[in-house]
Amino acid sequence: EKPLPFPPEKSPKATYYNATTGQSIDYYEIDIKPFEQQVYPGLKPAKLVGYDGVSPGPTFRMERGREAVVRFRNHGDKDISVHLHGSYSRAPFDGWAEDVTKPGQYKDYWYHDHAIHHTAENAYFGQAGFYILHDQAEDALKLPSGRYDLPLALASKQYNKDGTLFSPASETVSLYGDVIHVNGEPWPYFKVEPRKYRLRWLDTSISRAFKLTFDDPSNKKIPFHVIASDAGLMTKPVQSDNLEIAMAERWEIVIDFSNYKGKNITVKNARDVQADEDYNSSNKVMRFVVGSEVTSQDGNGNLPSSLRAVPFPPTKSGVDRHFKFERSNGMWMVNGVTFSDVKNRILAKPERGKVEIWELENSSGGWSHPVHIHLVDFQILSRSGGRSVLPYEKEALKDVVLLGKSETVRVIARYAPYDGVYMFHCHNLIHEDHDMMAAFNVTSLAD
Ligand code: C2O
Ligand code: CU
Repeated sequence: EKPLPFPPEKSPKATYYNATTGQSIDYYEIDIKPFEQQVYPGLKPAKLVGYDGVSPGPTFRMERGREAVVRFRNHGDKDISVHLHGSYSRAPFDGWAEDVTKPGQYKDYWYHDHAIHHTAENAYFGQAGFYILHDQAEDALKLPSGRYDLPLALASKQYNKDGTLFSPASETVSLYGDVIHVNGEPWPYFKVEPRKYRLRWLDTSISRAFKLTFDDPSNKKIPFHVIASDAGLMTKPVQSDNLEIAMAERWEIVIDFSNYKGKNITVKNARDVQADEDYNSSNKVMRFVVGSEVTSQDGNGNLPSSLRAVPFPPTKSGVDRHFKFERSNGMWMVNGVTFSDVKNRILAKPERGKVEIWELENSSGGWSHPVHIHLVDFQILSRSGGRSVLPYEKEALKDVVLLGKSETVRVIARYAPYDGVYMFHCHNLIHEDHDMMAAFNVTSLAD
């Protein structure tokens, strides 16, 4: 068992002055290159390809409103496409390399590969990382920061007998994986102080969703507060003793270890355990080892009772569009089309600036689909067929929502700010690569 590693933080290679805006632009470079990780001692190392040769890739901590350009150079042997998941990117930059951060909402981003038919392989072999934005309003809330603010990327992988990573390339249904990683390390531990921490969870797994709990040595679940989602801070902290997180979702919590001096807190998973016969350790994620000394009280005060005015879209009634995510004739489809169906894959033309309610249906009892809509942030209005809208989901804006088996979810969003063709798809990367992906065209003309 090894300690939890953290990806390096990225700093700009140069800063330029933009004469048009009178402001600075930070310029970053990322080299996509192969590297090896010794996972099983005595066996072969796993071969990975990562941003700057690490996985998760370097973390970007950006100030909201400050412009940045990132150049990605591909030194690997596969096509790549970088998507800044969670950004209001203009269409040409939404799956391609350079992205300009515009003043928008405060958001937590993550970036990952999006190459057609190879996203599962590329992201799983290392191409994913954090992109964290903050602004002054957030800084003023005095949440745990610095060494008390931990980005935690979950991944679930499967290895071959010789220690190398099993490739998802030929999978067509799902790859759950039986080795749970946090920040690239299987089942790590991390030493914490007996105080509050901010944990930024992200699920980079191909097919595994989690239901996390934080258990003390007598298996009691420690309560915590969910404070932020895919789209940044929620309206207020919401208390919970479990956190459901599906592929590509981001949830941030504040947890207080102050009552657990000298104890071990185990992060457990209760979802899809033994989804396959030899997956019996997928019920454990990592361990926090609580020390006895607090070295700083910064960000250790009471949580504010409200966090921010979340810009929810105005309410309306009715359903504007209905999309069915299904497996049919061995193919993964949205309303009967696949992404390869180039002529038919644009399924909607929302008028730019309009608010629409989309109903997302998972007619299958066999699979769940985390659905991600590019460009927009949505509010989850309802969920039927199984679970209801989770208490913390109600206070959040999202860009991914899990459609559990046989569930139907309604989401509301404003289709703005840009015109252009954007994707929406299942974020089970096997389903995505097998074309459970469609597009919508935001235009200034009504459909
Ligand atoms: Cu996280 Cu279309 O992607
Ligand atoms: Cu799916």
